Amino acid sequence: MADSMIELRSNETTAESRSPIRILAVAGSLREHSFNRMLLQAASNLIPSSTELEIFDLDAIPLYNQDTEALAFPEAVKAFKRKIEAADALLISTPEYNHSYPGVLKNAIDWASRPYGKNSFDGKPVAVVSASTGIFGGIAAQDHLKQVLLALNARLVTNPPVIVSSAGQKFDEHGRLLDVGTQQFLTQLLANLVNAARQSPRRQQTFVAPAIRPIIASIRRSEE
Ligand code: FNR
Repeated sequence: MADSMIELRSNETTAESRSPIRILAVAGSLREHSFNRMLLQAASNLIPSSTELEIFDLDAIPLYNQDTEALAFPEAVKAFKRKIEAADALLISTPEYNHSYPGVLKNAIDWASRPYGKNSFDGKPVAVVSASTGIFGGIAAQDHLKQVLLALNARLVTNPPVIVSSAGQKFDEHGRLLDVGTQQFLTQLLANLVNAARQSPRRQQTFVAPAIRPIIASIRRSEE
């Protein structure tokens, strides 16, 4: 009986575990030729198999105002929250503005953390990368952003660090990432992010096909 139980349990695959891992990617820059957006494009070519990456643009997110929130959530914010919640993991690429991350990104995060008790980042695996034209690659921006994400109970995936300094020299005129070292680090970070997503409670919930539930229940009863 124990053998058949093991066999049945091995068939208890989840609908979630069979579906691809979905990564939502967000750049903290609205600039048309943003290096951070280019970095996300590069990531979309370096993701592991059975993984999907969608880039969400923050252009339509209005400035946060608690009065607006009290009246009704703007459609763009609702769409952003839905995308985050449907994703298994997030990849955020941030520029550095004045030794921190841009207000555009903070604004979007503040919206998605609302309403109180419905913070969309709660428990979500998140990796942060950065690209800057400066020599420090946005490391201060990453530090500040990670601090905020920790406060929102995101599950940070921090290794290996992906910090693209002197970004103007790391991409070609078509926006393709040229730097091999960055490609390798980004590939590894994405693999680690996907592993974290696979292990998250949301992917681990076991779904048992309705047709075999009575059989499993009867075996469990006979084992008691
Ligand atoms: C910058 N930049 C910048 N870079 C940096 O390494 N440290 C910094 O503190 C700042 N500060 C800063 C402030 C402001 C207001 C701007 C507009 C820019 C340069 C910035 O990182 C660079 O422009 C990036 O290319 C911006 O990212 P995107 O738009 O290319 O993704």
